[in-house]
Amino acid sequence: MQRLVITGGAGFVGSNLAVHLQELGTGLQITCADSLKRRGSELALPRLSRHGIAFCHLDVRCPEDFERLPAFDLLIDCAAEPSVHAGIGESPLHVLSPNLIGTIHCLEAARKQNAAFLFLSSSRVYPITAVNQLDFIEAESRFSLTGQQKLSGSSAAGINEDFPLTGARSLYGATKLAAELLIQEYVYSHGMRAVINRCGILTGPWQMGKVDQGVVTYWMSRHLFQRELLYLGYGGTGKQVRDLLHVSDLAALIVKQMQHVAGWDGQIFNVGGGLCCSLSLKELTEHCQRRTGQQVPISAVPETAATDIRIYLSDCSRVQTVYDWRPAHTVDTILDDIYSWLVEHRALLEPML
Ligand SMILES: NC(=O)c1ccc[n+]([C@@H]2O[C@H](COP(=O)([O-])OP(=O)(O)OC[C@H]3O[C@@H](n4cnc5c(N)ncnc54)[C@H](O)[C@@H]3O)[C@@H](O)[C@H]2O)c1
Repeated sequence: MQRLVITGGAGFVGSNLAVHLQELGTGLQITCADSLKRRGSELALPRLSRHGIAFCHLDVRCPEDFERLPAFDLLIDCAAEPSVHAGIGESPLHVLSPNLIGTIHCLEAARKQNAAFLFLSSSRVYPITAVNQLDFIEAESRFSLTGQQKLSGSSAAGINEDFPLTGARSLYGATKLAAELLIQEYVYSHGMRAVINRCGILTGPWQMGKVDQGVVTYWMSRHLFQRELLYLGYGGTGKQVRDLLHVSDLAALIVKQMQHVAGWDGQIFNVGGGLCCSLSLKELTEHCQRRTGQQVPISAVPETAATDIRIYLSDCSRVQTVYDWRPAHTVDTILDDIYSWLVEHRALLEPML
């Protein structure tokens, strides 16, 4: 592996991954390609440039744009419309086109170069109804999964790759699952070397958090910048739970995966922080209050949106076994890191976030 292209390379994951690989001194020639559609992605450009990472303006929906890329051995596809609400109440093309058609164009570009392919999929491939059928208890500050789960691939530790896939999952989740299927066809019919990481919530510095994507940085920034918040759904108590993975822990996993490219056979891995690195919105509020020393008004909307889920925890046993990988960050170190980044770059970030 000498030459790497990262699509969505000015986004949160893509740019952090590029910087991490460069800081490791891997000697890789890295090109980040992005349409800069996401507000705030342009802020990654000086950072990429400082690290000697090339940038190519490219829209994954346009196959001719790929001709501007240098030759490459590995493509990491991080370009997406990443909101689970995308395409609802508006044209679904808004999410289908970058996420599915765009990934097809990435696959074609990789096939033509005989390059390997790493895909950032999502825990949102798991169907909403099935995830919400998991047995749970309601405690003081969060919902928790019980040890009495009936569905395959589920336990108190969360959801593994054997969880059922039948049912609706949001347009966003459907684009990710459809892309996974296509990637496995490229592996089967073209001998492409590919690996798929189904990620839970990824977070860390340089995430341009919005209410529908990047909720952890969004929540911390609203506390720091004194803006109001909402607990949406599930009675408006803020007890929904997610696991968190620091983007640098994802990068560490990808470094390990890149050492075994010859063995990439389209395998799928759940990737996240797991139960020990999880929290509810209500708990997140307490963490934010402690760090910022501020409280903000939080209103409650009891009604649950069609795409919301009560609890998602990644059971990462498979990826941990295959790659001997464990996240290094805890909830506390993740939130400390985000808080320090917001304070350090306040002038730049306050108008944006
Ligand atoms: N952040 C998370 O919590 C999370 C969780 C699971 C999966 N993922 C996946 O990881 C990948 C990266 O997510 P992220 O958090 O960095 O999101 P992001 O929005 O920060 O980055 C996505 C980047 O893709 C770019 N982009 C969008 N449409 C494009 C197009 N048509 N052509 C070229 N570039 C385009 C955007 O400008 C942006 O820079 C996505 O595939 C996302 O679905 C993210």
